[in-house]
Amino acid sequence: MADLTCVDGEVEMTDPAWFHNREARDKSAERASTAAFSARTAAKVRRFHESLPQYRPTPLVRLRKLAGYLGVRDILVKDESFRFNLGAFKALGASHALFRAVAERLNLRADQRSFQALMNTEVKEQVAGITCITATDGNHGRAVAWLAMQLGCTAVVYMPRGSSAARVQGIREFGARVSIIDGNYDDAVRLAENHALKNGWLLIQDTARPEYEHIPRCVMQGYMTMFVEAFEQMGGVMPTHVFAQCGVGSFSGACQAYLVQRFGEQRPVFTVVEPENAACYYESMIKGNGKPHIVEGNLATIMAGLACGEPNPLAWGILHDYADMFISCPDEVTLTGMRMLGNPLQGDDRVISGESGAVTLGLLYHLLRDRKYLPAGNALALNRHSSILLFSTEGDTDPEMYRNIVWGLSTQKP
Ligand SMILES: Cc1ncc(COP(=O)(O)O)c(C=O)c1O
Repeated sequence: MADLTCVDGEVEMTDPAWFHNREARDKSAERASTAAFSARTAAKVRRFHESLPQYRPTPLVRLRKLAGYLGVRDILVKDESFRFNLGAFKALGASHALFRAVAERLNLRADQRSFQALMNTEVKEQVAGITCITATDGNHGRAVAWLAMQLGCTAVVYMPRGSSAARVQGIREFGARVSIIDGNYDDAVRLAENHALKNGWLLIQDTARPEYEHIPRCVMQGYMTMFVEAFEQMGGVMPTHVFAQCGVGSFSGACQAYLVQRFGEQRPVFTVVEPENAACYYESMIKGNGKPHIVEGNLATIMAGLACGEPNPLAWGILHDYADMFISCPDEVTLTGMRMLGNPLQGDDRVISGESGAVTLGLLYHLLRDRKYLPAGNALALNRHSSILLFSTEGDTDPEMYRNIVWGLSTQKP
């Protein structure tokens, strides 16, 4: 947790840190390709998700009263707590990537590449001999285990030191072999990579490495279904601002690339939001040499899904070249967001949003109401004409932690 300092009886947070990327709108600059995130690919990925029996679009919640209270036109929150009944958005990416990896391992023809084709008895027997492996802070591993169970293959999952028992249990529930390692998230990724290589297992990781780009790209493409749904639900009307929370950056990178493909130069103002102890994108932008920078250490934050110190190189190029703002937040910002979403103004719907899900709404509040954040809010031109799209990427994936936070109790584990 960030240090709290008491000033004149008020509890104050550590200063916000932000980087305004003016080059993002420089028309003359050469930029990373976003071709892998075209509308055509997004439609294909969506068709795959629609083939899953549990598929339903998640709700887009319009917080009219809160928008009025904060003095903006619209606040829209895509509520991913409903995704496939798994409590988080990650299965969009993991399911698409695991499905592609299995289909490719079995050399299935393109016309055989449907979820139903993998359920065919003959193919199912071959799938049963496949093992996939991943490293996770929770949500991604749960998603991999979920699809592996449906396909009938084995899933092995590594988690970083300090992973909560609730999150471990949430993955074991789907029959995966889960181990907590003595290292952080990035160490778990390296270990999974070694074991995949040694045993010939399918590595289903959501972050790229040299010579490992295909699967992470499939994960990123999988997230596009969320954006396609959101824009359908908005009737195709473009928001002025989009905020995306960021761990390795696959989610925010996919979102930014989709917006570039869909809206080009007219795209919304895009903000990448990270926890202050794991702000690898913000730190890399500050360094200013165009290269991703690794943040080391224990990356302590209650935003477990965002506790990643190493940018995904596939996402780095996209976010570096197109994202307008990078903001690093203390944990208190997400506490604000969780409480606001869980206790809405009368007339607004409630959104159950977990630690990594609520940080963007908490940040929006501070950008509009907190004097320390106002310069960043002004740089983003947030005003009464703004219509803001946010993604609550998880529900109460750690129910005890969620309850402790919204009830105002200690967030420390006993
Ligand atoms: C709930 C939640 N939100 C956001 C993210 C960030 O996604 P990424 O690591 O792709 O930046 C994660 C990552 O696990 C997550 O679990």
